Amino acid sequence: MKIKEEINNSQYIVKRAKIIRTKRMTEIEKLFEISLPNGEFLDHDPGQFVEVSLFGVGEAPISISSSPSQRYSFEVCIRSVGKFTSAVNKLETGDEIGIRGPFGKGFPVRILEGNDLLFIAGGLGIVPMRSLINYVFDNRRDFGKVNILLGCKTPSDMLYGDEVSKWQERMDVNFNCTVDRGSPDWAGNVGLITSLIPGITLDSDRTFAIVVGPPVMYKYVIKELIAKEIPEQQIYLSLERHMKCGVGRCGHCQIANIYCCQDGPVFSYNKIKNIRGAL
Ligand SMILES: Cc1cc2nc3c(=O)[nH]c(=O)nc-3n(C[C@H](O)[C@H](O)[C@H](O)COP(=O)(O)OP(=O)(O)OC[C@H]3O[C@@H](n4cnc5c(N)ncnc54)[C@H](O)[C@@H]3O)c2cc1C
Ligand code: FES
Repeated sequence: MKIKEEINNSQYIVKRAKIIRTKRMTEIEKLFEISLPNGEFLDHDPGQFVEVSLFGVGEAPISISSSPSQRYSFEVCIRSVGKFTSAVNKLETGDEIGIRGPFGKGFPVRILEGNDLLFIAGGLGIVPMRSLINYVFDNRRDFGKVNILLGCKTPSDMLYGDEVSKWQERMDVNFNCTVDRGSPDWAGNVGLITSLIPGITLDSDRTFAIVVGPPVMYKYVIKELIAKEIPEQQIYLSLERHMKCGVGRCGHCQIANIYCCQDGPVFSYNKIKNIRGAL
């Protein structure tokens, strides 16, 4: 009992971590590479999140964007949308930041092993997705065919541009991306991400779809995946809900009888499709 309490209490302990690298990605998004005290390993699963805090300002759930194969530091990408995220985006290398976690259920890596993968990311969805994509590349022989579809508003909104170009060049990946609005130097697709799905050749029995993006995207993407005959239990989605505690105590993230922070944020479609308000 005492051990259980100690484990639970450790969920509330904020670790004083250090920012060891930053990179401005767009006008509003910035990457932070972070190391925990005493070289501690975060030991996360792709798809999990951490609670990031700044003393006197606040705390927010933020997805981990690096693969767990990167052991001595981890990365997050933070979009400036309000008081907390704007304050964090002013931090630089050498600054301290608070970290709790990792929290939540990530992507089911063991279930995905041996199967073909179809990654579909819209907007900021590439942030948690990148953790799994890089994990798959670091363990490439454990997975079958890989398809990656990315979508964002304009070419300048594309995150991790250099890395995405390398994914595109790989011979063992089928890659495609699209933007809602092009620019004079954009030679790629223009249109919704759903328009890329019908053109993919896949073996529906052994394909798992991993979908992360804004809520509005899910309904239409799922429709296309079902049309491709991917079984509902082979479609995984990451839900973003307003969260506070991150550990199933405050109820901020509750949808019907599920706590998004603990039962998710990653769910299989068949588990949440009948839950009102989930999608
Ligand atoms: C599991 C999870 C993972 C996340 N991962 C990332 C990430 O990798 N990078 C990142 O930049 N952000 C991420 N977010 C969103 C981030 O937590 C919010 O943007 C942040 O809490 C906003 O705090 P703020 O004080 O800056 O803005 P506020 O002043 O609190 O809000 C500003 C605006 O952002 C909206 N907002 C606030 N919280 C959320 C939320 N949870 N989801 C959607 N909109 C919100 C508000 O409705 C408001 O319109 C994630 C959220 C969750 C739940
Ligand atoms: S964020 Fe508090 S219960 Fe989920």
